[in-house]
Amino acid sequence: MNKEVLENRILKVLFSKEAIRVRTKDLGKRISHDYGAGGLALDLSARPPLLVCVLHGALVFLADLSRQIPTEVEYDFICVASYGNGTSPGAVRLIKDLERPIQGRDVLIVEDIIDTGYTIDYLKRSFLARKPASIRICTLVDKVARRERPVDIDYTGFVLEQDEFIVGYGMDYGELYRNLPYIGVLKPEFIR
Ligand code: PRP
Repeated sequence: MNKEVLENRILKVLFSKEAIRVRTKDLGKRISHDYGAGGLALDLSARPPLLVCVLHGALVFLADLSRQIPTEVEYDFICVASYGNGTSPGAVRLIKDLERPIQGRDVLIVEDIIDTGYTIDYLKRSFLARKPASIRICTLVDKVARRERPVDIDYTGFVLEQDEFIVGYGMDYGELYRNLPYIGVLKPEFIR
């Protein structure tokens, strides 16, 4: 096992721990307000909004974001992967589905990053077919440079204009670096 401190492999920090904390707090406040009385919630049974965490990258963000929402929420988890074999660009594979029906619910999809937009496009279409009361999208990072599918994002933490590969705060390279408390760029020697 390599015991080297991960921080030594980071070229630069793009979004610091403190910057993430501040943005997450703000988003939590807005979400709580929007789903509160007289807000955007459309669930006729008045159930709390269902935060859907898109595994695995959004795990850290969901944990922090939801603790900045002082009103009722529920969690569910979905896991998808892109085929990534070059033969079917944009194709998304379902690894683990939601555990409960979302019909009539107010669904808030929580993502760590929206890049090409294929994943969120797939999720939105899949969820719409299940007839929720509403679907909204929250992402910590909106990486606009490589967008291939138009996406309407309701809550954005940061916009990343440059096409940089980022890790940390849930985001990985080869399944590593998700546990870094900030978002940064790897030194080139650690990219194989
Ligand atoms: C990342 C991220 C999004 C998706 C965005 O997941 O969490 O779900 O990519 O990319 P897109 O907009 O180009 O579709 P990834 O497939 O890396 O899996 P992970 O969450 O398990 O790291």
